[in-house]
Amino acid sequence: MAQPLPRRGASIVSTGAYLPTRVVTNDDLAHMVETSDEWIQSRTGIKQRRIAAEDEFTSDMGAKAAQQALELGGIAPESIDLIIVATCTPDTIFPSTACHIQRKIGATRAAAFDLLAACSGFLYAMITADQFIASGVYKTILVVGAEKLSSIVNWKDRNTCVLFGDGAGAVILQHREGSRGMLAFNLGADGSQPDILSLSSGEGSRFNAETVTAPFIQMAGKEVYRQAVSAMNRSAEECLEKAGCKPEQIRWFIPHQANFRIVEAVAQRMGVSLEHFVINLDRYGNMSSACIPVALHETMMSGKLDRGDLVLLVTFGGGVTWGSLVLEW
Ligand code: UT7
Repeated sequence: MAQPLPRRGASIVSTGAYLPTRVVTNDDLAHMVETSDEWIQSRTGIKQRRIAAEDEFTSDMGAKAAQQALELGGIAPESIDLIIVATCTPDTIFPSTACHIQRKIGATRAAAFDLLAACSGFLYAMITADQFIASGVYKTILVVGAEKLSSIVNWKDRNTCVLFGDGAGAVILQHREGSRGMLAFNLGADGSQPDILSLSSGEGSRFNAETVTAPFIQMAGKEVYRQAVSAMNRSAEECLEKAGCKPEQIRWFIPHQANFRIVEAVAQRMGVSLEHFVINLDRYGNMSSACIPVALHETMMSGKLDRGDLVLLVTFGGGVTWGSLVLEW
């Protein structure tokens, strides 16, 4: 009997990132709300975040990250078949941010759509892209995680405004001969508790011009914290098992960057030293779907990733949603 053909899934062929130039420190925030550098650092690990200019939008940041990925990969924009943008802060609901990015980078042949899974968006997008490549439908896919969270933060609410930042990361995916690509994933969602992390007032079909106030991030911090630790831990362990890997075979764990204490608790539960976890939340805060691609890009650029290394990405976000992915670099 003929053997089934091996799956020809996606590998990351290049990465890019863009962070706005304006740095806002914890001390800067202490002039705006009743908080302190000491509180923010001890509760979250965040020291500063980047904030986009007023006229700099999610697609501007995403396009810059994408352009860098194209340059580093030596890939022409016209060769991109599909653009998926993970974002919960699109420039406009439509046209999608993916369409804005398509125009800005000149990816004239590409299909384009946005995907929304809050902070889990980038992992959902990577796994979606992998299906298109493994099925042979598309050859080259650009996946972007980009956010202008400063546009949906209530700058008078100290419970949330100290946590978030703006930025974008991008990867280009293709099948690469000899690479196992994405070994295993785990995605999940629990829509039964929409109020613990949400964008208030909404746009879309809940929009009511008479009652609506500006949409802001609302979060029951403690509950989200508790669920993030247990979902990320469970998801990562299931994913490792599916991939047939032991934690010690993973060179880098790249977690969603919401809170240092969450990362620490996940590492502890998994019995993995924090030295194997990539952490950049001290510099950028929580950039939602941009956290993981920016961390991936910085790890690659610092020379800490070699071909064949195994990497585990793990996330948790609004919805609530979660996910993990083991990939071979
Ligand atoms: O990306 C999506 C996922 N998001 C997350 O994973 C975030 C998860 N949650 C967290 O990271 C943490 O729960 C927070 C950092 C948001 C809060 O930390 P906490 O240790 O859970 O603090 P808390 O909410 O229990 O608040 C403790 C106290 C409260 O005062 P009282 O009620 O004890 O008097 C807050 O009002 O700290 C107060 N507080 C602040 N104080 C100074 C809350 N925010 C601030 C602040 N500065 N910025």
